[in-house]
Amino acid sequence: RTCAILGAPIETGASQRGCLMGPASLRTAEIDSELRALGWDVTDLGDVTIAPVAPQTHANPALHHLAETSAWITALQKAAFEAGKTCDVPIFLGGDHSMAAGTVPAMARRAADEGRPLFVLWLDAHPDMHTLATTESGNLHGTPAAYFTAQEDCEAYPALGHAVDPANICMMGIRSVDQAERERIKKIGLEVHDMRAIDETGVLPPLQAFLERVKAANGMLHLSFDVDFLDPSIAPAVGTTVPGGATFREAHLIMETLCDSGLVTSLDLVELNPFLDERGRTAVLLCDLTASLFGRRVMDRMTRSFG
Ligand code: ARG
Ligand code: MN
Ligand code: MN
Ligand code: MN
Repeated sequence: RTCAILGAPIETGASQRGCLMGPASLRTAEIDSELRALGWDVTDLGDVTIAPVAPQTHANPALHHLAETSAWITALQKAAFEAGKTCDVPIFLGGDHSMAAGTVPAMARRAADEGRPLFVLWLDAHPDMHTLATTESGNLHGTPAAYFTAQEDCEAYPALGHAVDPANICMMGIRSVDQAERERIKKIGLEVHDMRAIDETGVLPPLQAFLERVKAANGMLHLSFDVDFLDPSIAPAVGTTVPGGATFREAHLIMETLCDSGLVTSLDLVELNPFLDERGRTAVLLCDLTASLFGRRVMDRMTRSFG
């Protein structure tokens, strides 16, 4: 089977700089050879770039880097869709999470072209469900899920070609939600398994129930994996750490279960900030989790050591 790697060195959606180096760090951790070792045919498509843009103002004065982030979204919607044509499973290396406003609509378009629905598994400490009107931080990585589910007040972003039905989204690991996001999640009836739910049931029951739904609908499945889904003690290289995240074992179990399902058709690896990493440990962990998703059994080979 084939996969393609596409770098999305965008950092304008985050509060601090550094995600620009995410794709380089994941390549340094040898994500491509890890996948080749598992029998995958891997093509590296390089990094997406944007041309310089003029600043753009907005009624919400907190917003920053709106024009640049919009340019990234436009470029990524196109490049991610093209990448999806070349292989079975495109892998998008971030880059902050605003890139999902490019990759997810592109994958929704790809699914629509096949006459199939797109499902999204969102592994994150945050739902990223702010509209351009409700974000108080103005950090646009907090907005992609509102945009690709076609919520109001995202008109300053590029027009949305293919939206995702909120009923086809499952969020897990959530533990930091702003008031406006909480209200929106309730209003649209989004499936959110917060950390308390995971503590109560473990990761498997909600994951397996969701995978059953994807399978029954003959859906395509996009996994959007935010580094801050993981506990900061194992994944320090992210600007928005929240205590109480997923453990090494929970995260690998999710990836192995996804692998067994054979349902995942695209992947985002987002929010890696190598400027905050410790001897590459977070990049290595992301590569190892990706390897589990692509067929490695965690006990086949222990995580590479560092330090
Ligand atoms: N909800 C917070 C905000 O809007 C945090 C968003 C964090 N998002 C992320 N992709 N790390 O600022
Ligand atoms: Mn996120
Ligand atoms: Mn179409
Ligand atoms: Mn997050």
